[in-house]
Amino acid sequence: MKNEKGNTIEKSFEIRLATLGDSTVGKTSLITRYVENTFTFSYVQTMGFDSKMKKIKLKEGGDNIKVFLKDTAGQERFRSIAPNYIRKEDGILLVYDITEEQTFEGVKLWAKNIKDIFDDSKPMLLIGNKIDLNFKRKVKTEYGANLAETLGGIKFYETSCKTGEGVEKCFN
Ligand code: GTP
Ligand code: MG
Repeated sequence: MKNEKGNTIEKSFEIRLATLGDSTVGKTSLITRYVENTFTFSYVQTMGFDSKMKKIKLKEGGDNIKVFLKDTAGQERFRSIAPNYIRKEDGILLVYDITEEQTFEGVKLWAKNIKDIFDDSKPMLLIGNKIDLNFKRKVKTEYGANLAETLGGIKFYETSCKTGEGVEKCFN
């Protein structure tokens, strides 16, 4: 876009996203992979929440977008206060671990929590993470797809923070 003097002015937008899901599903890893393109096997439990920001353009010459990413703690006791952390977010990434069935049950509870509080006003998307561990898979892809359908036809992706597969795609 150009102003009256013919100088290019760049429009910019801000988007706020937060991750939710059980402990160790890879919420921190997902954000780190997306923002820094790195991965580590060492696990540091997130306490409360953490924030990161990434500037992107979805296409050459397109608008600047600042993506603010809020990384939340997965512990059980955080579940009841989580809604306060995500009140201002534009969208929620619901994450489970495809090798841990109970995290898939967990994600249903997180989703129910959000729906109870925000009705359908909070856009969500569903992510099955750790697909590099496909040999240990407990949650079939179709179960994830069906859950996404049940949650109102939200988008569903499978990712690996280790290899990076699917990560960029799901955020964009
Ligand atoms: P909390 O902060 O406790 O809620 O956990 P979290 O969901 O943030 O999990 P985190 O990202 O810290 O990852 C937990 C463990 O899983 C770490 O040891 C990661 O290295 C590992 N991990 C995360 N994503 C993947 C993945 O895609 N593949 C594999 N193999 N390991 C992963
Ligand atoms: Mg974490």
